[in-house]
Amino acid sequence: MAKRRIGITHIHSPDEQVPFEFLPAEYGVYKDNLKEWANEHYIAKRFPKKGSITEEEKNRIKSFFETRRKEFPDGTSALLPVLNDIKKNYGVVYTEYMDEVANLFGVHPSYVLGVATFYTMLEGFDGKAEIYVCNSLPCYLQGSEEILQEFLRKADDEVEIREWVCLGRCEFAPVVHIPYTEKSFGHVTKEDVEQIIKISKEVCPWRNKK
Ligand code: FES
Repeated sequence: MAKRRIGITHIHSPDEQVPFEFLPAEYGVYKDNLKEWANEHYIAKRFPKKGSITEEEKNRIKSFFETRRKEFPDGTSALLPVLNDIKKNYGVVYTEYMDEVANLFGVHPSYVLGVATFYTMLEGFDGKAEIYVCNSLPCYLQGSEEILQEFLRKADDEVEIREWVCLGRCEFAPVVHIPYTEKSFGHVTKEDVEQIIKISKEVCPWRNKK
């Protein structure tokens, strides 16, 4: 069964782990996940080093910067859209990409790292396709927990299932979203799971680049 991950919190480094012993009992279901997650060395796993950066990648990142700069011309307001473009294109925001972005914006790389690590949707999963399964209250009341379990059972190594918070389409609960597209699925049933996994791989931009 695929690993269950929650997408609602972030841990900057193993030294800044959540003090699990202070988690209230009702969070017990998440306790093991958090421990495991913290132990995975968050930044190295989710924002890893690539080793090098090609001219083509540099030019691509520069073109994201120039396009977004026209839409968000003030200060670093275009930073998040640029990081989002990188994630959507490459699947992983490598350290080298963040350095390049820092150069373009004229800021210290730690500033870019701070922004990138704050937003869980920018985390990378070794280039796997991704699916968000909403498990907030309205979806939960419509059976999202069962749907999530079905996704975790059916997903192979090529797709990362991410338990998510409200996707803003509660009227269609339970809702599932493929993040690199504008595709969301409403009133999802267990029977839909395999098909959604298949679609998530087919439309994944960074997988199709290989
Ligand atoms: S609670 Fe699932 S979309 Fe709002």
